[in-house]
Amino acid sequence: MEQSKLVELLNDMSLEEKINQLFQANVSFYDKGSIVTGPVEEQGFTQRTIQEAGSVLSLLGAENIKNVQKEHMEKHPHHIPLVFMADIINGYKTIFPIPLAQGAAFNPEVARIGAEVAAKEVSAAGIHVTFSPMVDLVRDARWGRVMESTGEDTFLNCEYAKAQVMGYQGEDPKAPGRIGACVKHFAAYGAPEAGKDYNNVELSERTLRDDYLPAYEAAIKAGALLVMTSFNTINHVPSTANKWLMRQVLRREMGFNGVLISDWAAIDEIRKHGMCEDRKGAAKLAIEAGTDIDMMTTCYPNYLKELINEGEVDIALLDEAVLRVLELKNKLGLFENPYKDADEEAEKRLLLCKEHRQKAKEVAKETFVLLKNEQMLPLKREEKIAFIGPYIEEKGIIGAWSMFADEKDSVTIREAVENYGANVLFSKGCDTLWAGAEILSMDTYHRNTRTKAEQDAMMEEAVETARKADKVVLCIGEHRTQSGEGGSRGDITIPKHHKKLLKKVAKVNKNVIVVLFNGRPLDIRKIQNMAKAILVVWMPGTEGGNAITEVLYGETSPSGKLPMSFPYTVAQMPMHYDEFRSGRQINPETPDYRFQCKYLDIPNAPLYPFGYGLSYTEFDYSEVKLSADTLTRGGNLTAGVILKNVGEYEGAEAVQLYICDEVGSVVRPVRELKGFQKIWLKPGEEKQVTFTITEEMLKFYDINMEYVAEKGRFTVFIGGDSSTQNQAQFQLV
Ligand code: NOJ
Repeated sequence: MEQSKLVELLNDMSLEEKINQLFQANVSFYDKGSIVTGPVEEQGFTQRTIQEAGSVLSLLGAENIKNVQKEHMEKHPHHIPLVFMADIINGYKTIFPIPLAQGAAFNPEVARIGAEVAAKEVSAAGIHVTFSPMVDLVRDARWGRVMESTGEDTFLNCEYAKAQVMGYQGEDPKAPGRIGACVKHFAAYGAPEAGKDYNNVELSERTLRDDYLPAYEAAIKAGALLVMTSFNTINHVPSTANKWLMRQVLRREMGFNGVLISDWAAIDEIRKHGMCEDRKGAAKLAIEAGTDIDMMTTCYPNYLKELINEGEVDIALLDEAVLRVLELKNKLGLFENPYKDADEEAEKRLLLCKEHRQKAKEVAKETFVLLKNEQMLPLKREEKIAFIGPYIEEKGIIGAWSMFADEKDSVTIREAVENYGANVLFSKGCDTLWAGAEILSMDTYHRNTRTKAEQDAMMEEAVETARKADKVVLCIGEHRTQSGEGGSRGDITIPKHHKKLLKKVAKVNKNVIVVLFNGRPLDIRKIQNMAKAILVVWMPGTEGGNAITEVLYGETSPSGKLPMSFPYTVAQMPMHYDEFRSGRQINPETPDYRFQCKYLDIPNAPLYPFGYGLSYTEFDYSEVKLSADTLTRGGNLTAGVILKNVGEYEGAEAVQLYICDEVGSVVRPVRELKGFQKIWLKPGEEKQVTFTITEEMLKFYDINMEYVAEKGRFTVFIGGDSSTQNQAQFQLV
């Protein structure tokens, strides 16, 4: 539809109709393709609101959606279609590894592929918009939602943000198989104090702008149609009511002209934060800040009319919000084609199809991070391997944000290994969750049905199995409900009974390989001492079992790198490799001297740094060579190394470029990731890897809050992780 027609439509709508466009109905208002009334009345608004709602949350299925859309449009005074939205994070039915794992691939293409498959599947099921990508920068592994982010680095997150938007929307979100992307959570939701979900955020404006905002901006520049507000406060103002953040930063500075949707009930939470007395006050603050859609509250439908009639809210604010919602529908082609891709036949054909499973498997294989390997891996078919641990038969390996998928569809390690046909033994040893072992949360706290004697017998059987094998692959880790929303933890270790199993098994068999399941970096010091190899597999998704088996048996070498540092202990949180230089930076030559920036009882360094990950093969880096030792404004220089595969296996290495701005008008980080390239090499093969360095890459917010590159000395590091010392220097003149 032409823009002028949208404006005409807007002008023709009644006040109520306009307000209702900003209301998002949810799945509980619908039953098999029809509008139901019960829950509407309970919430104190009329049937009309729901019949004129602008969008729907979490209703899925082609048949359902087609029926609801048809009935809705027939009853709607202007026959305006609904836009259907849902949280499709790392897949709809075919589940890819969690986003944090995808970050570990150091290859944004995997995220593009994952988003594309998700879009194909869920658009067939009638959905038009997903609440993804989440690009929140995360530096505190206590926060459960780190699993939804691609990690602690701004540059990495930017690259993944773009890739995900492209994967969902392609060149045109209207096109078949494409959906709109909603980047979230604007802004800085990933920095809650003490890692506690929904907590206050304290950030300087400089850190916000330098580190946290770029990934949202990257997604917006890539064309994301929507942005979601965050739950947290910034500078003591909840985002959903933050005029400066939304109108100045998001709209004016970043140029975002799409729809801004509140997070779940976040408009009413403005009241709960204590920024207003009542819901009416919350509606006023939210619309003034520029929040267009009200998700899961009735603040807009119940109070906007009153506020406008009383002259408390300018009707122009309502009009601009409604126009943006209409524009969204138009960008998705819904006025011409309200059912878009909803198609029962396509659902049957596409959901969990062979091609999607294959892609999920290939992506998963790129996300595993090998932290340690004392000649244990790869396994050989002729070796007798005991696969032990609760995760050998666990189907719940699809992560916390896969609520529309069925874990029954995922392939367990046991199923995959049996299919692979190796020389193996199996024994679970314990369950993933045991009552009393770990308090997860009220709704996921299971009571184990096994008696103490049964549990002991199970463990003993595992120990006996371990005795009979050449090597043990021990599959243990966090439960998937221990990360995700509301999944903050103060103790980031694996469940106690998993540790007990490891200890007992390691006593009878020294060749223990730990396959670690996790939704966050964990404190693995104890595991590290008892295992000869550790492979981090995160929550690997539907094809997890097959991917793990193929990597363990060396069909592919692991090539993941940590997208978040694995701490020495939780006490180091929050931590990030790109820290600022202290005036008392620890001197490696005098580590025991007291008056330095350090702890008395734990090291400063993480157990494994950002960017770290081994391969079955080994890579050799030449010295860093620069094309020049000065960089002129507007010019560029190149920095390169020769990478050689000096081991016996084919493998891939994510070559990382870091830059340190040695002197600045404000304190600068010790180094920052500015580029990476994933290079596949056969044994003996070598390749020149070159990065181009430009002035743009050196910019930051200076002492006057201007975004500039300052002249002076820069150090370039190129290597396999964030601790590399392979370096060269240049001057920006
Ligand atoms: C709350 C979460 O914070 C957000 O990420 C999600 O998209 C919404 N709920 C909708 O389910």
